[in-house]
Amino acid sequence: MNERSDDRVIIFDTTLRDGEQAPGCSMTLREKLRVATALRDLRVDVIEAGFAAASPGDFESVQAIAEEIKGPAICSLARCHPDDVEKAAAAVKGAEKSRIHVFVATSEIHRNLKLQMAKEEIIRRAVESVKQAREHCDDVEFSAEDASRTDFGYLTEVVQAVIEAGASTVNIPDTVGYTVPGEFYDLFSHLKQNVPNVDDIVLSVHCHDDLGMAVANSLAAVNAGARQVECTINGIGERAGNCSLEEVVMALKTRENFFNIGTAIDTTRLYPTSRLVSSITGMHVPRNKAVVGENAFAHEAGIHQHGMLKDASTYEIMKPEDVGVSRSNLVLGKHSGRHAFRERVEQLGFDVSDDDLQRAFEDFKELADRKKEVFDGDIEAIIMNAGDAQSGPWTIDELQISAGSGSIASAAVRLKHNDDSVVDEAAVGDGPVEAAFKAIERGVGFEVQLRNFEVRSVTMGDDAQGEVTVTVEYNGHSYRGNGVSTDIVEAGALAYLEVINRIARRREAGTDTSAPPANKDAAII
Ligand code: KIV
Ligand code: ZN
Repeated sequence: MNERSDDRVIIFDTTLRDGEQAPGCSMTLREKLRVATALRDLRVDVIEAGFAAASPGDFESVQAIAEEIKGPAICSLARCHPDDVEKAAAAVKGAEKSRIHVFVATSEIHRNLKLQMAKEEIIRRAVESVKQAREHCDDVEFSAEDASRTDFGYLTEVVQAVIEAGASTVNIPDTVGYTVPGEFYDLFSHLKQNVPNVDDIVLSVHCHDDLGMAVANSLAAVNAGARQVECTINGIGERAGNCSLEEVVMALKTRENFFNIGTAIDTTRLYPTSRLVSSITGMHVPRNKAVVGENAFAHEAGIHQHGMLKDASTYEIMKPEDVGVSRSNLVLGKHSGRHAFRERVEQLGFDVSDDDLQRAFEDFKELADRKKEVFDGDIEAIIMNAGDAQSGPWTIDELQISAGSGSIASAAVRLKHNDDSVVDEAAVGDGPVEAAFKAIERGVGFEVQLRNFEVRSVTMGDDAQGEVTVTVEYNGHSYRGNGVSTDIVEAGALAYLEVINRIARRREAGTDTSAPPANKDAAII
């Protein structure tokens, strides 16, 4: 059945497709399934799970999500090309509700400089692809790439033609983040007034944030009649990113008196979902980010605190609880038991299995021995890092570092492989972190190129944990890993080991290839 709605805005999440296309944001299949599960719990209407024709890995993840995630429609992107459409159809076949999303660029710039195709040829391809997709699936979306830079007259013709061919959703992207709210409102109003059969389909909006207006432009389109918004968690995506899901949803909710329309989203899941995506992608949410940033509900100025004490509505337009941020000041410590720990984990919005909770509780106890007080940020880090880092094949059994000003830094490491072998290695480096990385590389027997190394404090205080995110390149692919510890050299080594493990798993499974991942713009058309 098509996702149709006249009385609410359909939320189409593309974190796993447009979001994942952002540099350094690629995810493993297991991570994608975790995100897709969180998106289902958030109650998004459509999950764009990937671009099935882009690579065998993309195909596999769209297929796995289609088979496992029930509730939202599962969608695959496809260029207007017969092979792409067949691959998308095959990948989403197992879904409870499936959608095929075909796209082709329509603007003069893309027509002449990228596609070198005439207007008529583009319409012909679009119509053929929509018809082909309809042979597999009732729910077919068409996108006119770079629509915001396409002349109104031609875009109107394209939209009319794809609706006649059977598209049930027509998406109008601001692919390069160029439009402004007034202009986009006019474009959607024009389509509403000039495409004869437009009320039979859902008009959709898809904005990029190059000028910081993705959310404002999406809301302007909703005002003019768009009933689907395409967005990503934390606004991750190509270049400056996409329209942020949490911002657009909370704008519609908080200003319902203005928009007169809402969404089906469970807003209390916004914060945990944001944290999950940030931890998996390593794209940190700025403290001052709207809705989900750490400071979004912090009040510093005395006059504001005074107002807040009298009544929170003086300075707060949303309740933190409504987006899943709990106000509790409860601090756990080494005497806190499993029950208190579980309660706090649940209050923070995590839904973890008994086994994962047990593992996380052990990590918590170990941390509480090293740290006076364990804050919410620490617990979030424990839960988030209880994933891939533990799935081997390598673990660090011992790490010894020697460093100081004027002396050469050295590291000795004992690594264990899950086939029970043990390797001891040592290395020197420009500092303790480099020495540790070199020793690990020697131990596992392959080298990677470090591209980025970031450290952030998980909570406040001088015994706060440091979270290290590393991005490395190996055989043309980017890999990212996180590590958390009160000792940042150890956090760095854990993050490095996570990427090493990802690569080692691919090498052992024989799925490592030297070709870089396919890109949607490396197009045949
Ligand atoms: O930005 C864009 O135009 C896209 C389309 C493929 C929908 O991502
Ligand atoms: Zn996009």
